[in-house]
Amino acid sequence: MSLIDSINGFKEENDAVIVAHNYQAGEIQDIADFVGDSFGLAKKVTGLDVKNVIFCGVEFMVESAVILNPDKNIIHPELKAGCPMAEMVDLDDLLEYKQKNPNTAVVSYVNTKAETKAESAICCTSSNAVKVVESVDEPKVLFVPDKNLGHYITRFVKDKEVDIWDGFCGTHDKITLDDVQQLVDKYPDAEIVVHPECRPEVVDMADYTESTAGILRRAHESDKNHMIIGTEKEMGHRLKKEVPDKEYHFPGNPTCQNMKKITLEKVLKSLENLEPIVTVDEELAHRAKKPLERMVRIGRGNE
Ligand code: 13P
Ligand code: SF4
Repeated sequence: MSLIDSINGFKEENDAVIVAHNYQAGEIQDIADFVGDSFGLAKKVTGLDVKNVIFCGVEFMVESAVILNPDKNIIHPELKAGCPMAEMVDLDDLLEYKQKNPNTAVVSYVNTKAETKAESAICCTSSNAVKVVESVDEPKVLFVPDKNLGHYITRFVKDKEVDIWDGFCGTHDKITLDDVQQLVDKYPDAEIVVHPECRPEVVDMADYTESTAGILRRAHESDKNHMIIGTEKEMGHRLKKEVPDKEYHFPGNPTCQNMKKITLEKVLKSLENLEPIVTVDEELAHRAKKPLERMVRIGRGNE
């Protein structure tokens, strides 16, 4: 029996659903029941009527699913698949900031640990960061941890003071202006769409700045034959599969090594044994749930 047949067999036998992020390896996306961006995955898992969810993504996404769905078994095929940006917020530093700035609302990107979310007023993803910051009552906000997404927010939010943490995503931050320019020289008519985790000067060059789901939406809507996509290169798998009549070019070919730690073999093992089930300390989960639920209620930026 092939690996894929075994995966499908155990999925049925154990009544499990597989969800995967847009940066997962193509072969993982192909066996998943649902592929999406961080916001889409958070919503999807909550709406599923199953007990067992195999979550192919990185730790912060899995942890959010656990916090939002205490009644489900959220299974992570590779516990070592983390997000380095989530590690860039030190809890003591955050608590010190909060003590010195008592009237500031902490808005945390979902790419954070549960302990950071628990100290936040509200969370956001790349698909609703501007809308979330606009929604808070306080005139001053601390945005953690991505300085590039924080900078992107300040392009739109003019009536609030926004302090920005000094974190970044190594995968997106390494895309340079020069990488984009080289592709523009080759494909001058291409539409440029980048993720807001890219540097400000890269965002300046883009026609659109979108979450991974938004990038896919642009591919459906665009009448261009070539698209320059500023994000993790596996996004190309989904784009090519759903909108095959275009060519996609990825400046710098960025890869998120953590997303690639999940393999078909590990998914099969998780399906077979229904483990490892991820847990979050109950008290911590209780505190982190409110800002996550508040985020889900706000919806996407374009909703
Ligand atoms: P999206 O929410 O746009 O899918 O992004 C998640 C992520 O980790 C980007 O690096
Ligand atoms: Fe984290 Fe960047 Fe990987 Fe996204 S692409 S999971 S932000 S390291």
